[in-house]
Amino acid sequence: MAESSNPIQSSGQKLAGKVAIITGGASGIGEETARVFAEHGPRMVVIADIQDDLGNQVAASIGSHRCSYVHCDVTDEEQVKNLVNSTVNAYGQLDIMFSNAGILSPSDQTILDLDFSEYDRLIAVNARGMAACVKHAARSMVERRVRGSIVCTTSVVATQGSVAKTDYVMSKHAVKGLVRAASVQLGAHGIRVNCVSPSGLVTPLTRAALAPAEPRELLEHFAGRCFLKGVVLTPKHVADAVLFLASADSEFVTGLDLVVDGCFHGV
Ligand SMILES: NC(=O)c1ccc[n+]([C@@H]2O[C@H](COP(=O)([O-])OP(=O)(O)OC[C@H]3O[C@@H](n4cnc5c(N)ncnc54)[C@H](O)[C@@H]3O)[C@@H](O)[C@H]2O)c1
Repeated sequence: MAESSNPIQSSGQKLAGKVAIITGGASGIGEETARVFAEHGPRMVVIADIQDDLGNQVAASIGSHRCSYVHCDVTDEEQVKNLVNSTVNAYGQLDIMFSNAGILSPSDQTILDLDFSEYDRLIAVNARGMAACVKHAARSMVERRVRGSIVCTTSVVATQGSVAKTDYVMSKHAVKGLVRAASVQLGAHGIRVNCVSPSGLVTPLTRAALAPAEPRELLEHFAGRCFLKGVVLTPKHVADAVLFLASADSEFVTGLDLVVDGCFHGV
């Protein structure tokens, strides 16, 4: 059958009635994904972040009928648990978890100069925080028999090395392991777990890390590392990939690392 027989999906409302959480939703990829999700008829998109002013502004700009903001530091399991519980209490259930919050360490973090206080902070957000989000989303889905979709953000550096940022590379490999384990374990409950792996793109994360480079220089820097020419990776490309994984368009897809990298070649 070429077209979906579901009239709601056919009309482009791929998330009709769904309740989604997006961590790191105040900025960059998470913010753009909240905007893309909101165009597909969800019951509610809850964006969770530690940047409260920005998060509230993003939610207000999308509209309070479609999007709300909750403060949640993903390094604190109790806050993650409360985020999931408050979402379920307010909107009935949780269908989609996009675990996306992530950071880069301020220093280069080459193996010869690895700073373990920066390392601990990064692993707490990028690896432990992701695991807490997957754990509590999955518990809620299992408890309510929701055949939900969990998507994590990893990176092209989850499959290759890098000249710097050793802690970041390690954390993104860990997320891939998390997705592989969780997809196997949650399959019996009908819960799908996938990840999306972008190559470099301009967001506040990379702007801060690669300052004082201007956005145009950054675009050229990233574009020069991809074989695909004539298009430059934006948060919208990543958000569209996440929408695919979150929606019934990928109903039989689980354990996948969906690479969005324009054939990236080297860090
Ligand atoms: N930008 C890139 O080039 C790139 C490439 C590959 C993967 N990624 C990944 O994409 C994800 C999103 O990054 P982005 O580029 O949109 O960056 P971003 O800085 O624009 O967004 C990340 C968001 O995560 C939030 N956050 C940080 N620590 C948090 C915590 N403890 N609890 C809750 N929220 C927290 C930040 O406040 C921010 O709003 C990250 O996991 C990042 O590693 C980014």
